[in-house]
Amino acid sequence: MTERERVEADEAKAPPEADPRIAGEKHPVARMIGIGLLASLVGIAITLSIDWFPANASTSATKIDNLYDVLLICSVPVFVLVMTIAIYSVVRFRAKPGDMGDGPPIHGNTRLEIVWVTIPFIMVTTLAIYGWITLDDIEAKQKNEMVVNVTGQQFTWTFEYPSEKLETKELVLPVNRPIEFKIRSKDVIHSFWVPQFRLKSDAVPGLTTKIRVTPDKVGNYEAVCAELCGLGHSTMRQFVRVVPARAFQTWISDQKKAAGGGGGGGAPNAEQIFNSVGCSGCHTLAAAGATAKVGPNLGKLGDVDAKFIRTSIEDPNANVTKGYKPNIMPQDFKTKLSKEEIDALVKYLLGSQE
Ligand code: CUA
Repeated sequence: MTERERVEADEAKAPPEADPRIAGEKHPVARMIGIGLLASLVGIAITLSIDWFPANASTSATKIDNLYDVLLICSVPVFVLVMTIAIYSVVRFRAKPGDMGDGPPIHGNTRLEIVWVTIPFIMVTTLAIYGWITLDDIEAKQKNEMVVNVTGQQFTWTFEYPSEKLETKELVLPVNRPIEFKIRSKDVIHSFWVPQFRLKSDAVPGLTTKIRVTPDKVGNYEAVCAELCGLGHSTMRQFVRVVPARAFQTWISDQKKAAGGGGGGGAPNAEQIFNSVGCSGCHTLAAAGATAKVGPNLGKLGDVDAKFIRTSIEDPNANVTKGYKPNIMPQDFKTKLSKEEIDALVKYLLGSQE
């Protein structure tokens, strides 16, 4: 037997020495867990006292908020407990200066491993089932649903009420009536989001995504684009109004009257076209109350003629204003709009120069 083998054999026989760093301390582990539990309770109290959500204006909002609170209650202790054990161990079991020895050898702890696999497994599975039930509940088909088609394009939302044959830029909804939104995109991916309804869905070119919601509080809210979709992404927000049922009917008939061309038929209403095809989503035009800044100010075109304006609508890349980039403006207005509509727009823009 060599000297080294003898030393190793002696070490193996010797009873495990008590760790000098926690010598004389009763239940150091229990103390650590106690501190962790206390910190978890404080953490839960703090997170629940924070007002995380915007106003609550749909029947699904409460269910979603409750789910979120349960997620917080479950995840805060996990984070706090792990951090407590880590910090406690670093501080409490720190090697003394000059201590170059290895710690006691540990080859695993089956009981501990079973605990830290089983508890998270049960937690995650329960939360997944709870989330599933909530989602199923929110997405369930309702009686007396009203369909609203939502179309995203750079950089505006258009709302269509197929049962009323009406298209608008403002989303107005009757209170307590279940709504089914059918969401589409004309160009790139947008995301239709009304924070107060807790609803959000991507608008994907070539797909129709659906979302159900029942607004239950009269008020003014906002529809926001929540997917980076280009230069004008941040300006892609529009008003949402939830109104009593009677006010909704009045609004519908007013909109229809306005869309009827103000009682004359004949020439298309240029200001309406300007707003509905998306010009106002990118351009400023004082005459139309438009203030977007993605493209040039159309009220300050300088010394231009009808031909220049027509070309700029039909072939946007022909004359790109200094300081702006080509290919931002849709190239398809020539086919999307009728000749009469373009004529009306040209005349309108020419007459709106400041
Ligand atoms: Cu549309 Cu961002």
